[in-house]
Amino acid sequence: MKKSTKKVIIFGVGGFIGSHLAEKLLNQGYVVYGFDIIKLNKSKNLEFIANNKNFKYTKGNINNKSDVRKVFKHKVDVVYHLASIVGVRKYIDNPLSVIETIVLGSKNVIDMCVKNKTRILFSSTSEIYGDNPLTPWAETSNRVLGDPSIDRWSYSTSKSLVEHMLFALFKSKKINFSTVRFFNVYGPRQNPIYVVSQSVYRVLRNERPDIYDGGNMTRCFTYIDDVIDGIILAANKKSAIGHVFNLGYQSPSKMKDIVKLCIKLSNKKIKPKSINTKKLYGSKYQDIINRIPNSNKAKKLLGWKAKTNPTEGIKKLIHWISLNDWYLEK
Ligand SMILES: NC(=O)c1ccc[n+]([C@@H]2O[C@H](COP(=O)([O-])OP(=O)(O)OC[C@H]3O[C@@H](n4cnc5c(N)ncnc54)[C@H](O)[C@@H]3O)[C@@H](O)[C@H]2O)c1
Repeated sequence: MKKSTKKVIIFGVGGFIGSHLAEKLLNQGYVVYGFDIIKLNKSKNLEFIANNKNFKYTKGNINNKSDVRKVFKHKVDVVYHLASIVGVRKYIDNPLSVIETIVLGSKNVIDMCVKNKTRILFSSTSEIYGDNPLTPWAETSNRVLGDPSIDRWSYSTSKSLVEHMLFALFKSKKINFSTVRFFNVYGPRQNPIYVVSQSVYRVLRNERPDIYDGGNMTRCFTYIDDVIDGIILAANKKSAIGHVFNLGYQSPSKMKDIVKLCIKLSNKKIKPKSINTKKLYGSKYQDIINRIPNSNKAKKLLGWKAKTNPTEGIKKLIHWISLNDWYLEK
């Protein structure tokens, strides 16, 4: 008997991670219903799949129930929910839109998954652990947040609330979900406002990259291809239902070392700029010192481990930019 084609919806398909996920699933023969707030013809991220016959696009806002309902007229196997407001600047400048999009927008998506009995993959974040000093963080590690009035935590708290919605609906047998918490994902097509993408982008434009507050904070930089493999496993494996997974590269790097590595691998002689975040984001800004995952659960239940070390990943990014010089023009 002929196997029917698998169909999925990707919310946030025009974003960095969403567009890579769409590309991979289309290559595997899936039909992808993509949904995003941006115009298809304005999206560089989607240019290369826009004409794929298995890619169907809906422009809409997840905050708007009728937009979300429209895309659910297609019966699908899995919903990947990646739509979100992303970026520290936005959590500080407009925390209300962060809360509305993540909490209320996600509720609209989740309600439709419940109604249609569709499995959902929710993209959460390592920010959820806040500044818990006890690293590495397992999925059961504590959320340790600072002053509750600090806007930065609006993102972490909103994502946590959606995680709770999913736990509660799963408990009452209303939904099948898997949640993934990402750790500093980087790679081709990422908006160059994050440390790796921004450093490479600036250096290749002969501009100085930033190092924040001395650069001694650590992060685990996770290459996009590894993340996409993890997302697909978490969204499809039966054993993943009802579970949360840290998807992160296991070894930490200091921020200043990563910036210097970006300079070295770009073959440039440029000095980084020192940035004081209290001046940049205001005196109430709080950063996270170390952000390190324990990804043993993903290894055990999904058979997943991040394979790409920062040198390999940054080289791949630089190679991709050499073939896509439009990226440097933004
Ligand atoms: N990139 C990372 O390192 C990282 C880390 C932790 C968590 N995440 C999570 O992963 C997901 C994808 O992140 P990304 O890096 O691809 O971000 P991104 O900003 O590139 O993509 C997010 C997409 O969501 C869309 N979107 C925003 N508001 C919307 C709305 N109201 N309706 C419809 N679409 C809307 C945006 O247009 C964008 O295309 C997000 O949920 C984010 O919170 C990412």
